[in-house]
Amino acid sequence: MAKTAFITGITGQDGSYLAELLLSKGYRVCGMVRRSSNDSLQRIEHLRDQIEFYQADLLDQSSIAGVLAEVQPDEVYNLGAQSFVATSWSQPVLTAEFTAVGVTRMLDAIRQVCPKARFYQASSSEMYGKVQAVPQKEDTPFYPRSPYGVAKVYGHYITVNYRESYGMFACSGILFNHESPRRGLEFVTRKITHHVARIKMGLEKELRLGNLDAKRDWGFAGDYVVAMWLMLQQDKPEDYVVGTGETHTVREFVEIAFDRVGLDWKKYVVIDPKFIRPAEVDLLLSDPSKAQQELGWRLTVPFHKLVHMMVDSDLAIARQQKMLRAAA
Ligand code: NAP
Ligand code: GDD
Repeated sequence: MAKTAFITGITGQDGSYLAELLLSKGYRVCGMVRRSSNDSLQRIEHLRDQIEFYQADLLDQSSIAGVLAEVQPDEVYNLGAQSFVATSWSQPVLTAEFTAVGVTRMLDAIRQVCPKARFYQASSSEMYGKVQAVPQKEDTPFYPRSPYGVAKVYGHYITVNYRESYGMFACSGILFNHESPRRGLEFVTRKITHHVARIKMGLEKELRLGNLDAKRDWGFAGDYVVAMWLMLQQDKPEDYVVGTGETHTVREFVEIAFDRVGLDWKKYVVIDPKFIRPAEVDLLLSDPSKAQQELGWRLTVPFHKLVHMMVDSDLAIARQQKMLRAAA
């Protein structure tokens, strides 16, 4: 019989790739969506008819328990979160509610209504913050540098705690940054490729950024959802670091993106103190050897190709916008 997966955050970047993956494997895919006055299904528009949607909210315990009791999933992927680091300073309490306590709400609802379900928690390399070792692996101590990072550390340890307290099959994937053409526009990679494309098309003149020296371990989101699924197919629940094992500065990302369209980035990039964070994570670099050896997980998209993929996709969008503008 087909397995049932329940995904929180199905409308987000990772949710859309994970839904595609699970549908391709024959799963019944159920997605949790929160009420909105607008349609938030843009990223999964092409899958709309193949997914069952359930309304609930990470802030609302009884809505989660009610939906899980009805769906009776085999696997639960908790991807829902306030995921933008910069916003976590202006909305620290809300970030804690969604990103930290929301995890307990999910785990406790599972414990009560579908205790055999396997649980995936979207932990983050942001937990390493002011890194205590290079590269970072599963046993590297955490030192979060943002309210978001602190909330993710809570989510991580409550997952470990429910595994150890109740014998639940609960895993955390400590995922390093992963990007795609579906990335939200506020994250630096997509912000860069969106503006590069619009500058190339003559729709904009500049790109305003903060710290160009920050280093991130960036991979392709489509590869990372495979690791999530693999974790829930193992005999034992464990936590895994997932990343590329390479690090690049924001400046390098900018250079490659402008190069792709034949422009010199120095003529267009303006440093704007508004985008400098109160506390920065200077360097993230993964050691993904456990995921590679135990899960057999592999990358398919190297860094340069990722940047090109995102620029090309944004160029197609900008071209269309230019045509619409000309026709209006
Ligand atoms: P994303 O694009 O920002 O998506 C976040 C999702 O969470 C959206 O579907 C959003 O729904 C949902 N959500 C937010 N608040 C909610 C609430 N109160 N109740 C229910 N759903 C809520 O994030 P992503 O990049 O796909 O990341 C997925 C997860 O992985 C997140 O937990 C993130 O923190 C974590 N993570 C991401 C990365 C990365 O590099 N992408 C790395 C490590 C960990 P709406 O559409 O309604 O806003
Ligand atoms: N967003 C943004 N906007 N970041 C900028 C800008 C800018 O204009 N200029 C420089 N940066 C720098 C930030 O200071 C940070 O060092 C780096 O670019 C990456 O920022 P983001 O793309 O916003 O991602 P993040 O690393 O803070 O967080 C992402 O990755 C985490 C995993 O490490 C998010 O996806 C988190 O949800 C995820 O957990």
